[in-house]
Amino acid sequence: EEIDWDPETAGKSGYAHFMHKEIHEQPESLRRTIQGRVNSLTGTVALDEFPTDAFADVEQVHLVAMGTSHHAAMYAATLLAARGIPAYAFMAGEYSLARPPVTDRTLVVAVSQSGETADTLDAVRRARSAGARTLALTNVVASSLTRECDDTLLIRAGPEIGVAATKTFTSQVTALVLLCERIVADATGASSRESRDLLESLSRLPGDVQAVLDTSTAEAVARAYAGSDAYFFIGRGIAHSVALEGALKFKEISYEHAEGFAASELKHGPLALVTEQTPVFVVFSGRHDEMTLNNAKEVQARGAPVVAVTSRTDGEIAELADHVLSIPETHPDLAGVAANVQLQLVAYHAANLLGRPIDKPRNLAKCVTVE
Ligand code: G6P
Repeated sequence: EEIDWDPETAGKSGYAHFMHKEIHEQPESLRRTIQGRVNSLTGTVALDEFPTDAFADVEQVHLVAMGTSHHAAMYAATLLAARGIPAYAFMAGEYSLARPPVTDRTLVVAVSQSGETADTLDAVRRARSAGARTLALTNVVASSLTRECDDTLLIRAGPEIGVAATKTFTSQVTALVLLCERIVADATGASSRESRDLLESLSRLPGDVQAVLDTSTAEAVARAYAGSDAYFFIGRGIAHSVALEGALKFKEISYEHAEGFAASELKHGPLALVTEQTPVFVVFSGRHDEMTLNNAKEVQARGAPVVAVTSRTDGEIAELADHVLSIPETHPDLAGVAANVQLQLVAYHAANLLGRPIDKPRNLAKCVTVE
C-alpha cells in the first residue's frame, strides 16, 4: 500500500502550519530552556555558563535587539529596573546611531533568535569596541553573534521554521528571567524570598502554557472579531511588551492593521482611533491591574469591544470584558509568557480564517542580514 506524504507535511507532525506546531511545542521548549538552570534546594539560578559572581560589577544593562527579540528585551529591562538594576532596551538599529555612554561595567545583552541580524551584530560590535561587556542571548549555537560577544546564553528553543517567532519569544523571555535573577543576585548580593517565589513559579511555567493550549478560546475570539477595522493591544509594565508582541504577530501574519500601545499612552493619541470596529486586547499581568482596568473602561466607553487576557476570571475584569482569554495564576513577572501564547493563538486563527500563507508572510524574512 502506498502512503501519500511529503517531507513538508511530515515535518509539521499533523499541524497545518509550522507556526501552529511551534506554538504547541512550547511546554517542551520551555522545559528545555529551564532544564538544569534552577537549583530548587537553594532557590537560586544555576547558570554554568557564568562563574560565581560573574555579574557582581555590573552597573547597568543595555539590551539590544530587533523585532520580536526587542519585545523580549523590553520585558527583561522592565524586570531588571524593578529590581534596582538600571536597564534599558534599545532597538539595535537605533542604538548603533545614538548609543548612551558605556563602560566596562556596562553589560550589553544582545537578544537574537538567529544570532545573524545585521543591526544587532552592528550594535554589539560598536558597544564592544567602546569598552562594554557583551552577552549573546540566542537560539543558534555558533552563530555570528556568539562569536562577536564575550559570553553566550542559549535559549534552547529548538529550530523554528515559521517566519513569525513564537516559541523562541517565550524561551527568550524565560532565559532572560533566569539571567536577570542571576544579575540581581550577583550585583546586589540579595538572595531574596522574591527570587524563591519566582523560581518556584518558573518551574510550573511549562504546565501553565500547556493549560493555555488545552483550554484557549482564541479561535472563537478571532472569529468574533474577523473583519474589524483594526486591532489594538495595550498593557503596562511587562504587559506593555506583550501587547507590542501581540500586535506584531497579528500584523505579520494576518495583514490586518494591528498596533500595540502602553496603556498609559492611550489618552495621548491612540484613543482617537478607538471605535466599535476596533477590538482592544487588554493584557493584565497581575501588577497595576486596577490602572489597566480603568484603561479598559475608557476604550469600552468609546464602544470598543474589550478582550481581557488575565488570570482573574472571577472579578471586575471578567465582568467588564466582552471576552476573556484566561491564563493560569502565576508570579506577575511570568504572567506575560502565558498571555503571549494566547495572543499567538489569536493571531494564528485570525490569519487562518483569512487564508493567509501563515508560515511565509509576504515581504518578511526569518532573518534580516542587511541593515
Ligand atoms: C525578522 C524576523 C522576526 C525577528 C527579527 C529579529 O524581522 O521576521 O521574527 O524577530 O527578524 O530576528 P532575530 O533572529 O535577531 O531574533
